Amino acid sequence: MLQNLLFILFKLFCSPLPASASKSEAAYALLKWKASLINQNNPMLASWSLDPTHINRTTSTAPCTWYGVHCNDQGDVVKLNISTSRLNGTLQNLTFSSFVSLTRLDLRLNDISGPIPVKIRYLSKLVFLHLSGNRFSGKIPLEIGMLTNLETLSLHKNIG
Ligand SMILES: *[C@@H]1O[C@H](CO)[C@@H](O)[C@H](O)[C@H]1NC(C)=O
Ligand SMILES: *[C@@H]1O[C@H](CO)[C@@H](O)[C@H](O)[C@H]1NC(C)=O
Ligand SMILES: *[C@@H]1O[C@H](CO)[C@@H](O)[C@H](O)[C@H]1NC(C)=O
Ligand SMILES: *[C@@H]1O[C@H](CO)[C@@H](O)[C@H](O)[C@H]1NC(C)=O
Repeated sequence: MLQNLLFILFKLFCSPLPASASKSEAAYALLKWKASLINQNNPMLASWSLDPTHINRTTSTAPCTWYGVHCNDQGDVVKLNISTSRLNGTLQNLTFSSFVSLTRLDLRLNDISGPIPVKIRYLSKLVFLHLSGNRFSGKIPLEIGMLTNLETLSLHKNIG
């Protein structure tokens, strides 16, 4: 009986709310992508960490306080602006489905190569997509046409 009560209390106070669950999903997706980059020790991305010295456990703000990451009041990542940050790698290991609330993605002026993944279609709320000034190559995926909220798309100066 007491055990059951404790279990229920545990469930009530310890189960993550949906918003924070999606927040941590986004945090892990960003960490996985960072780990796939060639220069993962890029000082620009130093704040992208769940290291106790970087995380505020009182408020558990990751990834909303990370460099280039902007969240709404619900803690959903709505904007990623990591332009001009010497990112070197591909987008293959970025889990787009973890960023369904994203409206702006700005990765211009980095050294990102490879194709634009078809999974970009998961960013259905995207309004601005800036990928110019990188080394993207291959075809522009038709899936970009599924981003019906898109207003600005910039892909120029990509020398793949
Ligand atoms: C990206 O993910 C794939 C598995 O989907 C893995 O095989 C590959 O090594 C990863 N690339 C990098 C650079 O981590
Ligand atoms: C964590 O956030 C709370 C509330 O914003 C703040 O009062 C506290 O100083 C922060 N702690 C650290 C270590 O940054
Ligand atoms: C991203 O940041 C750069 C530099 O601060 C700024 O010029 C640019 O407008 C930002 N992009 C978006 C989509 O907010
Ligand atoms: C990115 O990595 C590739 C492969 O290691 C390297 O040739 C290139 O110079 C790097 N770009 C930058 C801007 O560091």
